[in-house]
Amino acid sequence: MEFFVKSGSAEKQKTGCLILGVFASRKLSPQAQLVDELSDGHLSGILRRGDMEGKLGQTLLLHSVPNTNCDRILLVGCGKEREFSVSNYQKVSKKVIAILDETGTTDAMSCLNNLNIKSQDLYWKIRFGIEAANDTLYRFDQLKSKKSESRRPLRKLTFLIDSRADLPQSEVAIKQAEAISKGQGLTKDLANLPGNICHPTYLAEQAEALAEQYEHFSVDVLDESELKEMGAGAFVSVAQGSEQPGKMIAMEYMAGAKDEKPLVFVGKGITFDTGGISLKPGAAMDEMKFDMGGAASVFGLMKAVAEMELPINVVGFVAAAENMPASNATRPGDVVTTLSGQTVEILNTDAEGRLVLCDALTYVEKYNPEIVIDIATLTGAVIIALGHQASGLMSNNNPLAHEIENASDMAHDRVWRLPIWDEYHDQLKSNFADFSNLGGRPAGTITAACFLSKFTKKYRWAHLDIAGTAWRSGSKKGATGRPVPLLSQIVLNRVNKS
Ligand code: BES
Ligand code: MN
Ligand code: ZN
Repeated sequence: MEFFVKSGSAEKQKTGCLILGVFASRKLSPQAQLVDELSDGHLSGILRRGDMEGKLGQTLLLHSVPNTNCDRILLVGCGKEREFSVSNYQKVSKKVIAILDETGTTDAMSCLNNLNIKSQDLYWKIRFGIEAANDTLYRFDQLKSKKSESRRPLRKLTFLIDSRADLPQSEVAIKQAEAISKGQGLTKDLANLPGNICHPTYLAEQAEALAEQYEHFSVDVLDESELKEMGAGAFVSVAQGSEQPGKMIAMEYMAGAKDEKPLVFVGKGITFDTGGISLKPGAAMDEMKFDMGGAASVFGLMKAVAEMELPINVVGFVAAAENMPASNATRPGDVVTTLSGQTVEILNTDAEGRLVLCDALTYVEKYNPEIVIDIATLTGAVIIALGHQASGLMSNNNPLAHEIENASDMAHDRVWRLPIWDEYHDQLKSNFADFSNLGGRPAGTITAACFLSKFTKKYRWAHLDIAGTAWRSGSKKGATGRPVPLLSQIVLNRVNKS
């Protein structure tokens, strides 16, 4: 779908469908009022008769409204005017797109971006509008023998704005939103693919494809034998039980100054997590194909950054492996030496994410990074702590944590910080190695991050545990594309600051 902006007055527009907001209770938005006047009270008549209260998400599709130039008008309830928030705007935007997709219209014009949302300017309303639209229209049907095709798909959505002076910021919003949506789409596609298709080698090929497509983009793949030789014993201990060779994939987008330190993003890429010898129970184990959600979000970020052509240096680094039980798989109790030289007693082979990440976090020291952020579906415990709303944030650097919290607020892709105090480290004590990979039941998300922090002392680092936010279960099972909006915002803010 394509997005446009146009300046003008609502009642004069010629479009397949004009989208107008109505607040509760029965209050026309300013743009709806203009149409109402021109149509001799057609809209207010409908409100009076009780067919549209303006409740959040309520919709009413009208045809042949007198004196207008549009084929249809879609009235959409926005709830109470004073409570109109980013979440409500996103909800309404998604509802509108879902309804339009069911009608015969191929183009539409939205006036919702003119409604007031507390402390959000036009840029943000257009960005959220486009991101919500693309999120709603996303389909994953590449593995179905018959594709679901809309008869007359929605092709064009125009945001109507008041003033020509707002055109430049609106164009920027469109470009950035489309780039972020494309990145998010790639993240969803990769995460939705099953483990038999999306294995480490497949991910490496996807990285090569990005390098072909974009300027300033190059890829370096480290294979399992190289990694073994190098001394990445923790990574190899996870990968060794699978027929699929493990890989570390470095995507370098270097469009900034030569001497500028890169922002480094490290993704957990377990393409399937059976738990290994510490085998997981069977229920919902299929969802462990999403255990490369962190890696998928790094791919999505790299695509978004390259699409936006941002003048900055960014490295996307993915630790990709499959966690399988096998006769040559790691046993509980095995001790391995990590790339950092520190030794780890593997008490549970299902705590594999931290094992592949710790060596990746050591490896990326070579980039002399400005910051390092890792993204991982690391612990079930984060779902208990934060549910499916916020990703867990942990960091060894307060300014970086605040920077991420700020970007998270802006992008409305939420995080919540948890502590990684020294006291928690005691839970990782081992009688046989420097420490173990298991912290026990209390504060499982935090002790996982404490483990990682033993490998991140040389740079400013933050960790995002996205086990609760990267995918949905149940009837709407599928990847969310989070936290691509957050990661993209972190990079955008860095560019805008410099
Ligand atoms: N990939 C899982 C985390 C996970 C579990 C995400 C369920 C989403 C839903 C991770 O590798 C894992 O198995 N973690 C263990 C750690 C434990 C053994 C210390 C967990 O969370 O149970
Ligand atoms: Mn696991
Ligand atoms: Zn895992």
